[in-house]
Amino acid sequence: MSEEDPEGWPGVIHREGRTLTRLSDAPNSGRSGPVSRRGGGVFLNPAMSGSRTRSVLLLDYAMDSGMLGQGTVYALDGLSASGLRARRWLNELPGDKAKRLDVTISDLDSEALAWAMRSHEEFPPKHGQGELSSSMGDLRKVVLAHGRHWVDIDPFGSPLPFLDVALQSLARSGVIEVSATDTAALTGSSRGAMLRRYGSRVRTDGLAHDSALRVMMGNLARGAARHDRCLEPLLSIWDSHHLRVSSRVMRSRDGANMVEDQLGWRVHSPTEKEVVASVESGLQPELSMDKLPMTCLLPLSFPIERRDPRISGPLWIGSLGSQEAMSSMTEEKALMLCVPDYEEGDVSGWSERDFEMERRRTLRAIRNIEGESCVIDSAHHILVDDLSSWLEIGSPPSPTLMVEELRGMGYKASLAHYGKPSFRTNASWDDIVEGAIGLQPPM
Ligand SMILES: C[S@@+](CC[C@H](N)C(=O)[O-])C[C@H]1O[C@@H](n2cnc3c(N)ncnc32)[C@H](O)[C@@H]1O
Repeated sequence: MSEEDPEGWPGVIHREGRTLTRLSDAPNSGRSGPVSRRGGGVFLNPAMSGSRTRSVLLLDYAMDSGMLGQGTVYALDGLSASGLRARRWLNELPGDKAKRLDVTISDLDSEALAWAMRSHEEFPPKHGQGELSSSMGDLRKVVLAHGRHWVDIDPFGSPLPFLDVALQSLARSGVIEVSATDTAALTGSSRGAMLRRYGSRVRTDGLAHDSALRVMMGNLARGAARHDRCLEPLLSIWDSHHLRVSSRVMRSRDGANMVEDQLGWRVHSPTEKEVVASVESGLQPELSMDKLPMTCLLPLSFPIERRDPRISGPLWIGSLGSQEAMSSMTEEKALMLCVPDYEEGDVSGWSERDFEMERRRTLRAIRNIEGESCVIDSAHHILVDDLSSWLEIGSPPSPTLMVEELRGMGYKASLAHYGKPSFRTNASWDDIVEGAIGLQPPM
């Protein structure tokens, strides 16, 4: 250990994606839960590896799209802990993009930053391009020191304390990625915390995770509007114990003035009047009303009884993602950018099987996202378990067969990247019912 090495160095080598790092202790090998800080060492949660993989792919897309300009991209990994997310950007993006990155990692934990910078020195980016620096301190101060094109906020718990300042620090056109792990609040099981923090209610049903993403996006939109900015959502994902919304943020007073147009309510078991209002607001395709849908979205202006247990919101009623961003998340790209090639005698001690497991994890991180891109702005997100109970049909129809059936009728449909078997479609509710009954006749 030299004088500059952090305490406990060299610890253990850990690999994620194509990137190597050193940690004070090996993180839990189970990769399934929010665990890992052992004995005050460097924090790294392997269960978040999918979130970091998507972050690499999204940054690649954003740089291609031109939304971050054509010059240097100033990026902040705001609550960086081990710094692995930022180091993956620099190491896994193609050289022509990596060289444009000027990345700062920041954290209150100086030890974590020291491990990150020392790891960066030992395992420099593949192309030797791009800048990495660290800034120790409270994110709420650090973030305002500099304008940024890309800000990542990945806290323990709620991101709300950091949102306002992070939004203020963004360039005229930038991207913010926000995670949250206060899932009891966000899914409505901690009602008081949800109302206090996010000003909304969420019905605790199968769509609670989708509603939570919409509540978070709605909070982000309101925060952006306070600073004369508007959103263009890129990606919204619920992954095991956390959610993450990623959005382009643009300076536009006119856009900010229209924030309430994208906010509203989700109603479970809506009345005919509510369904008519949803159709008239363009939030639901025309339908016959023979059988009412399971849920519908309504605009903020619709008079609702806020304590009505059928209602979730206020929440974002616009698209939860961008077709272009999501369709760029192909298996081919993920394999090319993020999946390491097997090497005998790998420094991290991985066997051929470990490399194969990493390949599978990477593909799981983006499963269905490309397909879902064409229906991300559609009215219906249907959980097949809910559909079978609603229609009182035998067992739930296979979501894959439902997608085929609806595509056969000329609609767009795709499996969703969601924790429960579900699909999204722009089909009319009548045809969803017809398709489901065709596959699983009533009992
Ligand atoms: C969930 S961890 C971040 C994980 C990391 N982004 C990753 O991908 O592995 C949250 C980090 O936020 C840091 N932190 C908490 N409050 C902070 C604050 N006010 N300012 C800066 N860092 C803070 C903690 O020290 C911790 O390292």
